[in-house]
Amino acid sequence: MRDPRHGRDWKLQRRPRDHDKSLRAWDTADEYLIKHCHENDLPAADASLLVVNDAFGALATAFSAQYADLWSDSLLSKLATVENLQTNALPDAPTFIPGDRTPTGPYDLVLLKLPKSLAHLEDQLLKLRGVLRPGAVVIAGGMIKHSPRRAYELLESCIGETRTSLGWRKARLAIAQFDAERELPVGLESVEYKLEGFDLTLGNAANVYAREQVDIGTRLLLKHLPRSDAPLQIADIGCGNGALSLALKILCPNAEILGTDESYSAIGSARDNARRADLDVNFEVDDCLWNTPAESFDLVVCNPPFHQGSVVGDQLAWSMFCDAHRTLKPGGELLIVGNAHLGYREKLLRLFGDCESIAQDLRFVVLKTTR
Ligand SMILES: C[S@@+](CC[C@H](N)C(=O)[O-])C[C@H]1O[C@@H](n2cnc3c(N)ncnc32)[C@H](O)[C@@H]1O
Repeated sequence: MRDPRHGRDWKLQRRPRDHDKSLRAWDTADEYLIKHCHENDLPAADASLLVVNDAFGALATAFSAQYADLWSDSLLSKLATVENLQTNALPDAPTFIPGDRTPTGPYDLVLLKLPKSLAHLEDQLLKLRGVLRPGAVVIAGGMIKHSPRRAYELLESCIGETRTSLGWRKARLAIAQFDAERELPVGLESVEYKLEGFDLTLGNAANVYAREQVDIGTRLLLKHLPRSDAPLQIADIGCGNGALSLALKILCPNAEILGTDESYSAIGSARDNARRADLDVNFEVDDCLWNTPAESFDLVVCNPPFHQGSVVGDQLAWSMFCDAHRTLKPGGELLIVGNAHLGYREKLLRLFGDCESIAQDLRFVVLKTTR
């Protein structure tokens, strides 16, 4: 990525690594933010800087000399940032603030990549208010096609007067001047729902998948989870709010269950949901099952994502299937749900050598395979 502030190109990689080689680890909204700062001499030498939602560390790399704090809900983003700083021989690891915490600040300048979810954006902006110095500026960048008008309205109502830039290479910036006196919008309501067929109520933080209702693929998979009294070892990769893990604990009360997710707020919500239901399930932030040794599980379940940020693709699903294969005991089973057109069956056949369709509706298919 070309960086006019330093007059050099940074070498940046995405995570997972073995992705479609045509995908870049940055977008022109990152480049526009860097260009804007370069042209306006930002940040000032003594300013404290916060970078929010940096996808793979493009901004952290370009602003590493400013000792910026980084705030992100993604472990993959954190890992990619560390790798990219190392690759570019930038030794100073910035302070990483996970998405389920609030930075302490105070900050003079915030560079924020617009997140996919407006609820997530609103939650972040409301939290930011408490950590901005008087006169602080929040500059938000996004690709025009992924930046709804509502995002700019949220900046205006949560931070202060906001002006938008001209479009540049399909990206746009919005520059909000912090107004400490501004009367705030009511704010986000907490969201919870009952999980059909189970005595479970699921609460969800702003950035958690299926925040407002259970995912329809998950709903189909829930009907095909096994029931057992055996002391099984079970994993749920990409557990979100814990819907599948918690349902499994009810169906298999003697099982030891691990749910992992790369989103800090997903794991926070899953832990809250387990506490509330008084169910003993272990939820950990992880990249798939990176921290689990091989041949650990009798069963792995998974409802894989079919996009990473706004990029549609099966790179994350493939990582999840590979980790399931590595961590299943011989004879252990992987149970997944996916949109029928995504071609997961071929992938599982390639990895496991067998794959059975055990349920299908108009859109989704539940697949089972054995290690
Ligand atoms: C389709 S959602 C399913 C969530 C939940 N299992 C459900 O059924 O509602 C996929 C989940 O995978 C998580 N995820 C994405 N990449 C991941 C990774 N590399 N490791 C762990 N979790 C990941 C996302 O944060 C998201 O919560």
